[in-house]
Amino acid sequence: MKFISLKNCYKVYPNGVTALADINLEIQKGEFVFIIGPTGCGKSTLMKLLYREEKPTKGNVIVGGINVEKLRNRKVYKLRRKLGIIFQNFRLLPKQTVYENVAFPLSSNGIKDTEIRPKVLKALELVGLKDKIKSFPDQLSGGEQQRVCIARAIVNEPKLLLCDEPTGNLDPDVSKEIMGVIDSINKKLGTTIVMVTHDDQIVNRMKKRVITMDNGVVTSDVMKGKYKKHESN
Ligand SMILES: Nc1ncnc2c1ncn2[C@@H]1O[C@H](COP(=O)(O)OP(=O)(O)OP(=O)(O)O)[C@@H](O)[C@H]1O
Ligand SMILES: [Mg+2]
Repeated sequence: MKFISLKNCYKVYPNGVTALADINLEIQKGEFVFIIGPTGCGKSTLMKLLYREEKPTKGNVIVGGINVEKLRNRKVYKLRRKLGIIFQNFRLLPKQTVYENVAFPLSSNGIKDTEIRPKVLKALELVGLKDKIKSFPDQLSGGEQQRVCIARAIVNEPKLLLCDEPTGNLDPDVSKEIMGVIDSINKKLGTTIVMVTHDDQIVNRMKKRVITMDNGVVTSDVMKGKYKKHESN
């Protein structure tokens, strides 16, 4: 079943930069997809269209049945609650514990504590951090902090997890561990995963669909693909 669809999508930023030019893509429910390509080719812009951080200049974006480019600002929450987002730079609340950080998307939505607790524990269990529940972010390693971010992103049990260079700041062993966590979320929960990465080892090891971009266009789209070297990185 189709979960994401982009048709004839263009993104021209106000400064005149064309970040995306005629993108056409379909991603099925439960798929695990890598997006690769040289720096500045439009990967993050493509992700931003999916969570409605940016609107396409032209074209049609559908995520989980929602027509994203037509969504009004006050309805964006309807899209956001279907998805979790993980970035390269962990954005944890420094003065809150691991538990509070993971609970945040639920508590800020006015959900009752008795409902929140089992969800937080389940998410922390999935990322293997149940024993760090009372720790503060600065008491954790980089890999552990990123696992907290993953737990926070999945605590709502989203259908889609968007990851923009989630291992960008981590060393190879820790990256491997984080990929294990994301892979198990895909397998255990059936969550659709779209991940931007520059890490050739991760892509080559995982044998997933690989979409390669260059200069705002998709240049290849291969099932069980490999990482292709770019000239610029
Ligand atoms: N808010 C913005 N305003 C103007 N131009 C932008 C904006 N965001 C991105 N761009 C430009 O759009 C192009 C695509 O940027 P994007 O961030 O999507 O690249 P990327 O593939 O994610 O690169 P990287 O691998 O370095 O993260 C670049 O030329 C960038 O400078
Ligand atoms: Mg980027």
